[in-house]
Amino acid sequence: MNSISIIKNPISTELGDFNRLFDSSLSSSNPLLKSVIEHIRQRSGKRMRPMLVLLMGKLFGEVNQSTLHAAAALELLHTASLVHDDVVDESSERRGQLSVNAVFNNKVAVLSGDYLLATALVQVALTRNHDIIDVVSALGQDLAEGELLQLSNVSNLEFSESVYFDVIRKKTAALFAACTKAGALSVGATDEEVEDARLFGEYIGICFQIKDDIFDYYDSKEIGKPTGNDMHEGKLTLPVLYALNATHDEEARALALKVKEGSASADEIGHLVRFTKENGGIEYAEKVMNDYREKAFALLPAEGHADVKQALTAYLNYVVEREK
Ligand code: IPE
Ligand code: IPE
Ligand code: MG
Ligand code: MG
Repeated sequence: MNSISIIKNPISTELGDFNRLFDSSLSSSNPLLKSVIEHIRQRSGKRMRPMLVLLMGKLFGEVNQSTLHAAAALELLHTASLVHDDVVDESSERRGQLSVNAVFNNKVAVLSGDYLLATALVQVALTRNHDIIDVVSALGQDLAEGELLQLSNVSNLEFSESVYFDVIRKKTAALFAACTKAGALSVGATDEEVEDARLFGEYIGICFQIKDDIFDYYDSKEIGKPTGNDMHEGKLTLPVLYALNATHDEEARALALKVKEGSASADEIGHLVRFTKENGGIEYAEKVMNDYREKAFALLPAEGHADVKQALTAYLNYVVEREK
């Protein structure tokens, strides 16, 4: 079995239920919204977040309606954040097709992203679970704060790894932590189990974003979204931060400042990418990611649920080893 089948194996029925709920949650009579929804439905994402909610539900109990509504809420919030992200990043490709802003325009993308976000709230209310509602409400704030912190960091002249981690904890890891926490809460896990679940999700999310950032240093058609975009947006991620701080190379630092100012040419960006690779930036980021993977493994309960633990192990390995 390949890793995706191992991940899906214990939750195949529940994933079917999730897909039906997710599809039925999105229906509008507004013609413009209808066509945006149709466009989004054409290519679904990898469904990493709902799979995680369902697996955590299975790990600590029985998947139920609350688990499914939480999974739908979190996938909707994720989808909303991607629709908005492509506006903010001026990106024209998503999931191997044109982004919503590219097919329609920025205004339509902002407004339909709001609609998806509101639909996430409808779904979370249907969990009828106050603790899950708290998780998802706080998550909305974290995601927005993470994006804003990233934006303001472009004009910060330091090459700070700690700001990088603050950004990815909020913009990405918070969503994975909400998935694992909500999954555990939905089946009545104990406080201790819920906290371990939350941390497990946070570590997965950190791995996930580091991997996503590494992708950006390579050309690939597989990924389904543009690569090399981060530096064009003034964003310096873990590999280049490491290379800059490890070498103190004045020429590279001057180039990195130009990237942050938004005045670097494509050639200069190419040069900084090569500098990063030559100075161990990718290996360093991979090592940090692997350390988080080990920390996550250590949080899995020792006893019981062999098939779910096998799926969660495959999930973590997939996050770290995936090609898209
Ligand atoms: C993309 O997430 C956003 C990041 C956190 C980097 P995914 O790669 O899970 O997106 P889809 O849902 O599969 O398109
Ligand atoms: C991560 O942002 C996605 C969100 C938290 C909205 P990025 O801008 O790094 O992600 P991609 O590469 O466009 O998916
Ligand atoms: Mg972005
Ligand atoms: Mg982006």
